[in-house]
Amino acid sequence: MPDELVIRQLLPADVDAAEAVGWAALSPLWPDDFRPADDDVRRARARLRVGHLQQTDPGGCWVAEAGGEIVAIALALIREGVWGFSLFGVHPEHHGRGIGSAVYAPALAYGKDCRGGIILSSEHPAAMRRYATSGFSLRPCVSTAGMLERRGLPAGLQSRPGDLLDEEDRATCAAASRFVRGASHEQDLEACLAAGRDLLVLPGRGFAIHQDGSPSLLAALDEEAATDLLWSVFAAAPAGATVHADFITAGNDWAIDVSLRCRLALSADGPVFVRGDVGPMAPYLPSGAYL
Ligand SMILES: CC(C)(COP(=O)(O)OP(=O)(O)OC[C@H]1O[C@@H](n2cnc3c(N)ncnc32)[C@H](O)[C@@H]1OP(=O)(O)O)[C@@H](O)C(=O)NCCC(=O)NCCS
Repeated sequence: MPDELVIRQLLPADVDAAEAVGWAALSPLWPDDFRPADDDVRRARARLRVGHLQQTDPGGCWVAEAGGEIVAIALALIREGVWGFSLFGVHPEHHGRGIGSAVYAPALAYGKDCRGGIILSSEHPAAMRRYATSGFSLRPCVSTAGMLERRGLPAGLQSRPGDLLDEEDRATCAAASRFVRGASHEQDLEACLAAGRDLLVLPGRGFAIHQDGSPSLLAALDEEAATDLLWSVFAAAPAGATVHADFITAGNDWAIDVSLRCRLALSADGPVFVRGDVGPMAPYLPSGAYL
């Protein structure tokens, strides 16, 4: 580890530099097909995410500084007693020198009194090693992706656009999130939508947030509702679009079924790491940013 390394909380003034380090660390893992076309839009959305978490969870957001430059970022959140790890990255020039472990430690400690914890991991060996050796158990995942075959989409779907100003829609979202992971997403939904995503709701049964027909978050009280929501997300994809659904854990075969009917291809993803009480994690497609 570099001698001059400083681990400290992320401050509002750090948002731009921290976002840049997160992108430098994580962008090599993004498939080319899913790289945002417009870098300015991508950067603005990523800053919104970092800034939002700095506001809601200042005690969970940490950076590492070497030579006065931010070289690593670790962002954690707590929602209704469940800890989630949102972002973890070390600038590629500094990998494998203990900096990730050093910045992970306080973000993890932030959740020490939580009843459960969730991490959506990359397949990076250092990330998986850190999570597996800090009290989390591994749940294998798959993702599905490809060019949507619209002939697979059924008629008569019941999900409809949702509205966060509508009390019933908000209640549906909170109930579904509490059912699948034991904690509402209420604090994060506005930030999700502000990043250019859309909300679909199946009243009383579940909700999905998606970007151009790819789900970013889906939670429901039953599999039939989750299936309707995922079909509806895919139906919202622009013609000819490539879509993907990530971090599909065991117990979410409904998502695999829907994806295969649209001729998306399965591949390995994740894994997800959990500890403590995190609910059934189904029917659920977790959010990369907000779990
Ligand atoms: C994952 C990441 C944040 C880890 O940070 P890092 O500073 O490189 O990791 P560290 O040096 O602290 O190493 C963490 C552990 O993994 C081990 N490790 C490091 N590099 C490794 C590698 N390439 N293969 C296997 N193990 C490795 C270390 O020995 C250490 O374990 P130990 O303390 O038990 O000996 C960083 O590599 C990164 O930004 N990767 C790309 C983005 C990413 O995948 N982020 C995670 C998102 S969930």
